[in-house]
Amino acid sequence: MKIILLGAPGAGKGTQAEVISQKLNIPSLSTGNMLREAQKKGTPLGQQAKSYMESGQLVPDELVIGIIKERMAQPDCAGGFILDGFPRTVAQAEALDQMGVAIDRVIEIDVPDEAIVTRMSGRRVCEGCGASYHMTHNPPAAEGVCDKCDGKLVTRKDDDPKTVQQRLETYHRQTQPLVDYYQKAGKLRTIDGNQPLEEASAAILRALEASV
Ligand code: AP5
Repeated sequence: MKIILLGAPGAGKGTQAEVISQKLNIPSLSTGNMLREAQKKGTPLGQQAKSYMESGQLVPDELVIGIIKERMAQPDCAGGFILDGFPRTVAQAEALDQMGVAIDRVIEIDVPDEAIVTRMSGRRVCEGCGASYHMTHNPPAAEGVCDKCDGKLVTRKDDDPKTVQQRLETYHRQTQPLVDYYQKAGKLRTIDGNQPLEEASAAILRALEASV
């Protein structure tokens, strides 16, 4: 199954991608994590992406399309995958179509902006594997340590309130048009992401099982 998770920054795409990945045994591909990894390694891609990410803007389409194309060609994607954070512009969605990638379902995780701003202040992410936690809603077993890889949990640079506000504006302007794009294609299901984590996961799994 090939799935796209759409939603504002902090809507829960990364968290839910992990749940679906385990349930369906398909990999989750996060362009945000790939770009952060490239920055950590100091690659040319990472250096080019840095200023966009830190200011809450989107990285240029051609850079992101290149990395996701390469990732989807890996053998572990043969049985399907979950796209977390891609596509994010109509141009990226069109590129995906042109690559001949047949998407089965697009799940929009809907959360109001006010709830996002509160959520982001409690988020911590693993420096090692990128896993996402929340100090209250989804805490790790041991404080400050990733359950999956024992990595250190840190606050993401772009989670400061001013940058979150910018990311939300970018989302509404450049990414929200994709809701309409996939609605017209008959692939979209919207779920309420402003409910407890487990309930949101159950709603997504139901939406994946149901015919669109
Ligand atoms: P990216 O890393 O993709 O960030 P994002 O889309 O802004 O999304 P987040 O990772 O912030 O949030 P999420 O929806 O995954 O939420 P999470 O599960 O962590 O992108 C970063 C940057 O990279 C972009 O700004 C851009 O510059 C660049 N980029 C990436 N992809 C690109 C592309 N395709 N094109 C161009 N540029 C690109 O959850 C958030 C918090 O809430 C966590 O603490 C979690 O525990 C908690 N939580 C989750 N669900 C619930 C719930 N139901 N109830 C309570 N708390 C919850």
